[in-house]
Amino acid sequence: MASSSRAQFSSRIGFILAAAGSAVGLGNIWGFPTQAASNGGAVFLFVYLLMVFALAYPLLVAELTIGRYGNANPIKSLRSIWPQQRGIAALLGIAGMIAVSMILSFYAIVAGWLFGFLVGPILEAIGFTTAANWLESFSTSRNLILMIVFMIMTIMVVRNGVANGIERWSTRLMPVLLVLFVVMTGYILTQEGAMEGLKMFLVPDFSHFSSGLVVSAMGQAFFSLSLGVCSMMVYGSYLRKDTNIPKTAAQVALLDTSVAFVAGLLILPAMFVAQHNGVEIYNDAGALLDSDTLVFSVLPAMFNTMGTGGVFIGILFFVLMVIAALTSSISMLEVPVACATEELQQDRKVAVWWIGGLITIFSSIIVFNFGDMFGLVISLTTEYAQPILGMCFALLVGWIWKRDQVLQEIKEGYPELEQSLFWKIWPWYVRVVCPVMMLMVFFA
Ligand code: PFF
Repeated sequence: MASSSRAQFSSRIGFILAAAGSAVGLGNIWGFPTQAASNGGAVFLFVYLLMVFALAYPLLVAELTIGRYGNANPIKSLRSIWPQQRGIAALLGIAGMIAVSMILSFYAIVAGWLFGFLVGPILEAIGFTTAANWLESFSTSRNLILMIVFMIMTIMVVRNGVANGIERWSTRLMPVLLVLFVVMTGYILTQEGAMEGLKMFLVPDFSHFSSGLVVSAMGQAFFSLSLGVCSMMVYGSYLRKDTNIPKTAAQVALLDTSVAFVAGLLILPAMFVAQHNGVEIYNDAGALLDSDTLVFSVLPAMFNTMGTGGVFIGILFFVLMVIAALTSSISMLEVPVACATEELQQDRKVAVWWIGGLITIFSSIIVFNFGDMFGLVISLTTEYAQPILGMCFALLVGWIWKRDQVLQEIKEGYPELEQSLFWKIWPWYVRVVCPVMMLMVFFA
C-alpha cells in the first residue's frame, strides 16, 4: 500500500519533536493553567493526569497506528481500515478535517495575541507607545491583523512540506522552549506570593470536584494531545515503519504532560505573585477575571518585576510561545492540506493557500463576533468534536479493524509486541474501556 515517494519524517527524534510540537502549544501554556486555576488547581491536575494516561495515551497509539497503516491522508487511511463502509469512513475523516480547521481558526486568534505581546515591548522600548498599546490591548482590529499574520506564517511552513518545513522547525525550536520554561519557573518560585499558587496547584481540595471538572479535564487532555481531529493520524502517516509506536507515543505524551505541568508550576504561582503586586485576578465571587486572557495579564506583570532583564526574557518567552503555537498550528493545517493534495491531486503550494485562506475567513468571522462565537467554537470543537471523534476512532480500531492487521502494523517497529504487556492490555482497552469511559464522562 505504500507509495515510496510519499514524504516521511527523516528520523525518529524528528518525528518525536514534530509530534510533541503538535501536542505542546497553547493548550499547555494557555489552556491547562487557565483551566487548572478556574477548577481548583490540584484536583484538576490529578483528574487531568488520569485522563492523559488512562484515555488519551491509548487513543494516541490508535490514531498513529491508523495513519501509519494507511500511509495516506486521513480520509484514505480511515477507508483502508474499513473497506466495507468506505463512505462512512470518509465522512469521519472529513469531520476531523472540519473540526481541526475550526480549531485552527480560534487558535490563530490567540496565537496572534502572543505575537502582540512579543512585538509590543519592543515597540515600547523604542518609543512607539501608541502602537505598543494597540498591540497589547483587546480590539477587533488588533485581533484581526495579528490573526492574519499568524495564519500566513502557518501557511508558509506547511507550504514547504514535511521534512523541510514541519520537522526542521520543530526540531530546532522545541528544546529551547523547554529550557526557558524551566528557568522562568525557577525564577518565579523565588518571588513573594508564589507559594500560595504552588499550594493551589499541588495540594488538592476535593470540594472543587465536580462532573463538569471531569469533562473539562477530558477535553483538555484530548486537546493537548491533538487527538480526535486527525492531526496525529496524518503525522503517523509520515512515520517510518521501523518506529515503535507504543514507545514513541508514550514519549510524546510524557513530554506534553511535563510541559503542561511545568506551565502550571509557572503560571499559577505567577498569578499569585501578580496579585501580590496589585494585579486583580479573581472577582469577589472567587471566579477568575477574564480567564481567556489570564496568561496575558499575569506574565507581563511578572516580566515587569524582573527589571531590564525582564524585557528580554519577556520577548524571548513570547517568541517561544509563538513558535510553540506554530508547531501546533502547522499540524492542524496539514490535515486538510494532505487531504487536498492526495484526494484532489492538488499541488501543495496551491492547496495551502486556498485552504489557509478559507480558515482565515472563518477566523475573521469569529473575530467580528468575538463575544458570541469565540467560546462557542472552542467548546464545540474541544468538548464535543474531539471526544466524539476520538471515541469513533477507538471503536473503529477496537471493533472494525481486523485484529491481525493491527498487530502486524504495530509489530513492524516492535517485533516483541505479542509477548508484551502492552498487547495484553491495549486491544481490549481501546475496544471497551475507552469508549465506555468516554460515554460515562459524556453523560455525567
Ligand atoms: N495540542 C495543541 C495544544 O495543546 O496547543 C493543540 C492542537 C493541535 C489541537 C493539533 C488539535 C490539533 F489537531
